[in-house]
Parts: sequence; structure tokens; C-alpha cells
Amino acid sequence: MMDGNATAPRHRHPEPASPSSSANAIVVATVTDAALAHSIEQGEYDMDMGNDSHSLTSSIRQHVVDGHLRYHAYHAGKYAFPNDETEQYRDDLKHALTIHLCDGNYFYAPFHKMFEQGAQVLDLGTGTGKWCVEMADFYPNSHFHGMDLSPIQPDWVPENLEFFVDDIEHEGGWAYPENSFDYIHVRHTIHSIKNRPQMWERIYDHLKPGGYVEVQEFQYVAACDDDSCDRPYAWRDFLAYLESGLAALGSQLNSIQFVEDEMLAVGFKDLRCQDLKCPVGPWPKKLRLQECGHMLRDVIMWGLIGLSRRPFRDGLGWTNVQIEMFLVDVRKDLSRQVNGLPDFHAYFPFRSIFGRKPLDAK
Ligand SMILES: C[S@@+](CC[C@H](N)C(=O)[O-])C[C@H]1O[C@@H](n2cnc3c(N)ncnc32)[C@H](O)[C@@H]1O
Repeated sequence: MMDGNATAPRHRHPEPASPSSSANAIVVATVTDAALAHSIEQGEYDMDMGNDSHSLTSSIRQHVVDGHLRYHAYHAGKYAFPNDETEQYRDDLKHALTIHLCDGNYFYAPFHKMFEQGAQVLDLGTGTGKWCVEMADFYPNSHFHGMDLSPIQPDWVPENLEFFVDDIEHEGGWAYPENSFDYIHVRHTIHSIKNRPQMWERIYDHLKPGGYVEVQEFQYVAACDDDSCDRPYAWRDFLAYLESGLAALGSQLNSIQFVEDEMLAVGFKDLRCQDLKCPVGPWPKKLRLQECGHMLRDVIMWGLIGLSRRPFRDGLGWTNVQIEMFLVDVRKDLSRQVNGLPDFHAYFPFRSIFGRKPLDAK
């Protein structure tokens, strides 16, 4: 199943998908610059106009600032959430939380031996790249590729890892030949994919026969197994608005519930699911879950502004003041305590699901 150099990117665009290293200083652009960058990517910008400082490569490295929050500029507007330091901190904490919740498991597919022997691995929506960096250290014989819209990955990475800026949903497809990968990983990203059937097909086509795909995602609802949430709860309202706001922008927040059927439909076999619960706040008795609850509540508290800005403002038409006023109640409910313990016993359902491309697939 392994093929050491099968995954060298071929040049799909006039310019290749860029390595994401931010060794060059990060360039911050305005929304207008982002529109220009987008037109360059689309081939609409006249390069003979004498302004040759706007190259595609630099657009990939740029960021867009919108009301004190910073967003990706490559295919600007695609992802509704920021990529600034706060968001990167949240991504890193969410990585640690996910591994802790999964009791130290970085994956559930029966793939340890293959990782040890040497596999070609693709991480879609890699974010700050923590999963890739740590996996590349654990498995030096495997080669890891991390794809993201944002160039927010570290410069210094293990030799067997490369990051690149690209769009999972790029209209021209991926910059890799089909049948390139042994394992494809997608974590906390499908909520932002607009055309999931297309993504599953791409994953299927780019896996070698016998290769695995593994997806991990929360269900972003205020699930609760007792009666503590049977009353007004601003956090539950927040999640409902977030779902509607993202839907207005074109993606489905709670899509993990459809993944099993979608994977079966495209031809994946031997599917297995692992379902867990991640508490919001340290209300469970079990220590590990308490710790997960602490971490998830931090991840949420730090993210409220960035999570709501575009979905609520651009998706639902709220003003920034309306958002801020509403967030006061959300913060209060998230930290509400009785006898030093969280009053609401909410959790996010979490699902990990893997499947295999049949060995006899073309
Ligand atoms: C919440 S972060 C998750 C990061 C990482 N997978 C993890 O679990 O730590 C989602 C990431 O998906 C990326 N993303 C969203 N849509 C994308 C797309 N169409 N193409 C490439 N990356 C995308 C975002 O830029 C963001 O970095």
C-alpha cells in the first residue's frame, strides 16, 4: 500500500499550492486586499497593470482583518472563523482536549503497524498542525501532509511533515494524484465544509485501495442527561443561532450525524464509530472528564466572539452590539455555579468514525 514518492504535488494552478511556512513575516491585508487576492487566484487580475507586488504566493500568506479579528485571505470568506492568535491558542487547547477525551488515542483505525512501517498521510483542515507534528514524531517512517486555508502552522517541523495552503473544496480538485494516501484524517473541520459529498468522493479517490479515512467531530448541541438544562439556557440558544448563522453562510454545523451514511454512500466499508461525551465545564465526578470539561469551557469562552462574529453578523444580520449583549448572558450561564460546581450539566457528543476503501477498488 505504500508508495514513497507518489504524493509529490502536481501543479494544478498556474502557481502551486503554497507551502504554508510563515517564515516570511505575516502580512495583514484589508478586506479590499483580500478581494484583490481572490481575483488574482481566479485569474481575473491583469498582471500587466504594473502592480506586480500582488502575486498569488503572497496572497496565500496574507490575512484579512475584520473588526479586530483576523481571517485567512486565500479563498477569503470560505471559513467563517478567525485564524488569529486567540484562535490558534484555542486550536491547540482543543487538540490537547481531544487527545485527553480519547484517553490518549490519536486515532482509532487499526493502523498503528502501517504508521510504523511507513504510510502516506493527509490531514485535511490541519489548523495549527498539532496532530500532524506529534504524529510525525511518533511515526518517523510515515510521511505527513497537512492542508489548510490558513498559513498558521509552525516553521520548524519534523522532516517527515509538510504543510501547505489549499482549499479542500478547491474547484480544481486537489494538487495530488488519485490513489496517493494510505490514511486521511479530518478533525473538527466538517462543520465548515459546504459540499460534503464532494469531499468524501475526493477522499475516496485520493486513498489507495485498502486505505483508511478517519473523522472526528463534536456535535455542537447542549446535550444533557439530567434535568439541569430544562430551563432557559443562553448557551443552548447560542448554539442554535450558530447553527442557523453557519447554515446561512452555506455549511452545516452538526454534520457528524450524517457522516456514517455519507461514507457508506461513496463506497467506504468496515465502518466503526466511537461515541464519547465531552462535558462543558467541570461538572462530572470522574477526574478525566472534569479536566476535559475545564478545557472545553475555556475553548468556548475564548472563542465566543470569534465564533459568533461572522455567523451572527453576516449570516443572521445581527449588529456587533447585539452580539456583545447576548454574549453577556452566554458567559453568565457557562460559568453559573451552585456549591462551586457548574449548574448546567451540558456536554457535546463526540464521534470518531473510520472506514476503509475496499482493497478491490479501482
Ligand atoms: C477548528 S480548526 C481544526 C484544526 C485541526 N484539524 C484540529 O483538529 O486541531 C478547522 C480548520 O479547518 C480549516 N478549514 C476549514 N475549511 C477548509 C477548507 N475548505 N479547506 C482547507 N481548510 C479548511 C480552517 O482553516 C481551520 O484551520
